[in-house]
Amino acid sequence: GTPASHSDTSVTLTIDGRKITVPEGTSVMRAAAESGGDIPKLCATDNVSAYGSCRLCLVEIEGRRGTPASCTTPVADGMVVKTQTPRLAKLRRGVMELYISDHPLDCLTCSANNDCELQDQAAAVGLRDVRYGYEGENHMGNKPDVSNPYFLFAPDKCIVCSRCVRACDEVQGTFALTVDGRGFGSQISAGQTSDDFLSSDCVSCGACVQACPTSALMEKSVKDMGKPERSVVTTCAYCGVGCTFRAE
Ligand code: FES
Repeated sequence: GTPASHSDTSVTLTIDGRKITVPEGTSVMRAAAESGGDIPKLCATDNVSAYGSCRLCLVEIEGRRGTPASCTTPVADGMVVKTQTPRLAKLRRGVMELYISDHPLDCLTCSANNDCELQDQAAAVGLRDVRYGYEGENHMGNKPDVSNPYFLFAPDKCIVCSRCVRACDEVQGTFALTVDGRGFGSQISAGQTSDDFLSSDCVSCGACVQACPTSALMEKSVKDMGKPERSVVTTCAYCGVGCTFRAE
């Protein structure tokens, strides 16, 4: 969901009929996960700050208008939250439909097939049909950036959730990535003064690749040889920071 809160003050709320007590400052999304619930999401993760951009995680909160994003809404004492209602299901399907309408439909030949959060979440919200034409032509001029020796960036697969930007900033502390433009024209960019990853401030740590929920950022070895069948989690001793990696 979202990073843990470490406050000493506790808050008790009700989520889908379940009472849960969590530290003050916890997001509704994290509280829901800790109570055994599962709210659809694309832009939130456990280790980077919430951003609230994908709008899949909308919930209903008694006494509040609208449907706030659960990843950016902090819990409050006595709050009563619903995460699964017909209205929310319809909203989430609508949001997902827009994502898929702007995404290549090449799942069967995509290297991320069966290991893609966009694919998983589309199934989770029950999206069966897309009513809009594919707008991906907007990205066709944006050829994949293959300048980095270890990974590539394919703009047409990018949903601009900014998980890579936040991972670069908050996990790695490099600040090499940014979001350029608005709406359909928005895209991830490797710095403002360089055209590609290789000539940017990127240090090839791979935090962005790990964070990407689609195959927009993908290791070249995975692209060439497919997903490994086995992996181990290890701690890198290179610089002493103690980053944990999945080694494949
Ligand atoms: Fe909350 Fe994306 S997960 S808006």
